[in-house]
Amino acid sequence: MTPLNVLALSGSLRRSSLNTTLLREAERLCPQHRFDHYDGLGRLPHFNEDQEHPAPSEVIDLRRRVREADAVLIASPEYNASVPGALKNALDWLSRPAGEDGPALALKPVAVIGASPGPFGTVRAQLALRQVLHKMNAHVVQQPEFLLFQAHQQLGDDGRLPDGSPAQQLLCAVLDALARLATRERRQAPTGAAVR
Ligand SMILES: Cc1cc2nc3c(=O)[nH]c(=O)nc-3n(C[C@H](O)[C@H](O)[C@H](O)COP(=O)(O)O)c2cc1C
Repeated sequence: MTPLNVLALSGSLRRSSLNTTLLREAERLCPQHRFDHYDGLGRLPHFNEDQEHPAPSEVIDLRRRVREADAVLIASPEYNASVPGALKNALDWLSRPAGEDGPALALKPVAVIGASPGPFGTVRAQLALRQVLHKMNAHVVQQPEFLLFQAHQQLGDDGRLPDGSPAQQLLCAVLDALARLATRERRQAPTGAAVR
């Protein structure tokens, strides 16, 4: 499998976030890929059309990191059955044109995962997130889906999923699917054109 540059984006600002922990676990389980962990979500200004030109430096940095990545892995909590506001804010910034290339997330291979201490494992947030990403024309991995319920128990004190567990295998399968999607996109991109 082709090694990927993966931008890892957690939808949580919390220091001990289960979702950020899950992204670290994905990195540990998939050492063939290079992970860039984005931790600037809380520093992004609220999206404001009046502040788009010139874009704030934090937004320019996020857009650059998305463009430089082969793929994006989003792990998000569910807040009130939907996407946390901080993550939606970042997606709104990423949905806007930045130069001639168009929005950074358009055509970008993306996988969505999530962890919750509750019984539903972020299923509603993931549905909402997929709807937003669809509108943004991101290329989202459809299968397998990864929902980690009772995540505070499944992720041990060391932040790891049990070796050989179904959750661990499924997380690796999501990364494999993301790598396949990114490889296919690379092949289909016109010569000399980067996949945005
Ligand atoms: C404002 C708020 C709303 C929440 N709503 C939900 C929810 O709808 N579904 C759910 O499973 N958990 C919900 N939770 C609990 C989160 O899943 C839990 O706090 C989780 O640990 C957050 O993810 P993190 O650990 O990555 O920060 C909510 C938490 C907060 C603070």
